[in-house]
Amino acid sequence: MPGKIDLLVRNIGLLATPLGNEAKGGKKQSNILLIQNAYIAVSDGRIIKVGIDNEYNKDISSFHTRVIDAKHSLVTPGLVDAHTHLIFAGWRQKELSLKLKGYTYLDILKQGGGILSTVQSTRKASLEELVENGSHALDIMLAHGTTTCEVKSGYGLTVEDELKSLQAIRELHKSQNVELAATFMGAHAIPEEFKNNKKGYIELICTQMIPQVAKQGIAEFCDVFCEDSVFDLAESRQILKCGKSYGLIPKIHADEITSMGGARIAGEVAAISAEHLIHAGEEELEAMSHSNTIAVLLPGTSLYLGEDFAQAMRMKELNIPVAIATDFNPGSCPTESLQLPMTLACLKYKLSPEEVLTAVTLNAAAAVARAEQVGTIEKGKQADFVIWNAPDLEFLFYHYGVNLVNQVIKKGRIVVDRSC
Ligand code: NIG
Ligand code: FE
Repeated sequence: MPGKIDLLVRNIGLLATPLGNEAKGGKKQSNILLIQNAYIAVSDGRIIKVGIDNEYNKDISSFHTRVIDAKHSLVTPGLVDAHTHLIFAGWRQKELSLKLKGYTYLDILKQGGGILSTVQSTRKASLEELVENGSHALDIMLAHGTTTCEVKSGYGLTVEDELKSLQAIRELHKSQNVELAATFMGAHAIPEEFKNNKKGYIELICTQMIPQVAKQGIAEFCDVFCEDSVFDLAESRQILKCGKSYGLIPKIHADEITSMGGARIAGEVAAISAEHLIHAGEEELEAMSHSNTIAVLLPGTSLYLGEDFAQAMRMKELNIPVAIATDFNPGSCPTESLQLPMTLACLKYKLSPEEVLTAVTLNAAAAVARAEQVGTIEKGKQADFVIWNAPDLEFLFYHYGVNLVNQVIKKGRIVVDRSC
């Protein structure tokens, strides 16, 4: 057996994981490996063997340095949160009362609230403050089982403040335990100073922001909020194509609040993911089914905005791989934990526990181009997994509103331990 085992997790009641390096859609999304009474052996941060516990003595000699007794509980891959906006300053709890008075998300945005009020406070914040806020959010995410996370900029909306936000992501990636994938989202809103000159702002994005982001190698993806009174289809296409020409992989916020047909753009620009899709129509979904685009669905946002829930069952029929993420942000989904969205995905999308598990691990990893490294528990992958306070897979989706994490392992190290 290659390499010295430096971590052995044994006595796993149920190991549940999808397998492979590619997103799975349709019927394949529920194909997961279930092993009762399992063990996982780790060397140098990687999984080197997965097997049945009573066999491990035969296979594994005892010079491991650390043994974790999983006490018959459930173990899954570490969760991958494929859609967050966690670089911001200032919460927006005041919007709760406005919502209760009947103001919609777009009403609040049009009055200079919403995203734009977060833009004001984010511009005022220093890099250090953004790092501190982000670090706090990531600690909470990790404690809830998230080991890899996509993070979008988009509350800066000037060259300097977008770069500051992306730099905060870079610092956070180095300084804390959740692995981060950075997305440039200068096209998140039209800033106040360009309110009557959207063209000018798009020009700034394409001629200044994207080239500088690419030059600094500070983001991997480019995202656009394709929405009524934000960026229309042609503008979204233009920005994503420009990003692509600089090597940024396209993603798109499509059909979140109104049915704009943004999912079609995803196909046109070969986006790695189309996100939200609450109001995506049949034609758009059909078009998506002919591309490799992954649907990243955000049920926590539907709940929080009082919106409909995306048509996950139709996506399944069309073999579109579905990932589930939080959308963590201070407006439309102020939560760091993926656990409630996972329960909502069962109850509202009618996806099975097996399908949702794939949605928050392998498919989410594929949506951030990390499926070769993370998202499954199998030989060769990074040793990222969660030991849950749950006896089986159903329990993870059934017992909701509390944190079910027991221990979190990232790259073979225990980074969260709630067992004592
Ligand atoms: O995904 N849609 C745009 N962005 C976020 C909301 C951001 C905010 O309200 O601050 C979303 O819902
Ligand atoms: Fe979002």
